[in-house]
Amino acid sequence: MEYDPNSLQNGRQLMPPEGNAPPDASSSIADLPTQPTWAVTKPSATRPGVIQVSQQVTQPQQSTQPMSQEERARQKPVIVVRDLTKTYLIGNKTLVPALRGVSLEVYPGEFVAVLGPSGSGKSTFMNLIGCLDRPTSGEYWLAGKLVSKLSSDELASIRNQLIGFVFQGFNLLSRATAIKNVALPMIYAGVPSAERDRRAARMLALVGLGGRLHHKPSELSGGQQQRVAIARALVNGPSLLLADEPTGNLDSRTSIEIMAVLQALNDQGLTIVLVTHDLKIADYARRQVSFLDGKLVRDEPVLKRRVAQDEWSALVAQTAEGNGQNKGGTQ
Ligand SMILES: Nc1ncnc2c1ncn2[C@@H]1O[C@H](COP(=O)(O)OP(=O)(O)O)[C@@H](O)[C@H]1O
Ligand SMILES: [Mg+2]
Repeated sequence: MEYDPNSLQNGRQLMPPEGNAPPDASSSIADLPTQPTWAVTKPSATRPGVIQVSQQVTQPQQSTQPMSQEERARQKPVIVVRDLTKTYLIGNKTLVPALRGVSLEVYPGEFVAVLGPSGSGKSTFMNLIGCLDRPTSGEYWLAGKLVSKLSSDELASIRNQLIGFVFQGFNLLSRATAIKNVALPMIYAGVPSAERDRRAARMLALVGLGGRLHHKPSELSGGQQQRVAIARALVNGPSLLLADEPTGNLDSRTSIEIMAVLQALNDQGLTIVLVTHDLKIADYARRQVSFLDGKLVRDEPVLKRRVAQDEWSALVAQTAEGNGQNKGGTQ
């Protein structure tokens, strides 16, 4: 399984945002990609130079509506969690019940935001569904496999094959270039060197960083670094992308940039589970679940989903207008 931008055609492409940043754009705008990037639009013969995007999860095109019960019934869930509990033991005798019986299903192509106050069990839940830890009790099925009872080695192998992770802190190797950072997971997967570089370059192009392959993290903006991390998370063709507060270290403008990338990937069929404490960020998802005291207390579709690409286009237009006015004032 692999994201292969050339092998699959799904009728959607990554396109430059409507209204490009002006040439004399402010530095924050200049940080954003000026080349074809993530915006998803219908293919158009009049707009050359687009980046093809594969549909790795090979699910039907997503509509902008949340998934209906009928649609769900036709598909096999990526995640099935049944009565999951996790109790931490502190010292020898203090038990902390972090998850207290959570049941949930996530279907291919869903974009689920996991909400809840600090200490409610979000990270514990993510660690379990990310195969980073094992539950105290309950069942976890990932892509049809019962993973809750696997050994640590087996978990690691499943994790490498099926899950991509994106974290708040990017977690990039500071001395390695973007392409080497993205190629890293393929070393563990045994992919030959030339193929690693080829695929890494393609993934970076997919997230709008085709022109930054040989930059190190310190030479990239926060948003660009997070896009490198997203490319790295996707390079082995996971069934599921898990993002834990991916915009937590980013300003609001850059958060829109990252959410636009995630929405575009989700539009291509990628299943995403995103943890956030920020309700505004959760409104970019298609479905929201909320934790409280280790329990799932809410599970609802997002009826008025925010569209990051539209917001980004509006910001670009606003900045262009502002620049025009500034120029007018000084002449
Ligand atoms: N490794 C751990 N050892 C002991 N207690 C933990 C550990 N991780 C989390 N907890 C406790 O479990 C509960 C849920 O934590 P967590 O899943 O991190 O919540 P959230 O991510 O929503 O802030 C909290 O009471 C927290 O203190
Ligand atoms: Mg947490």
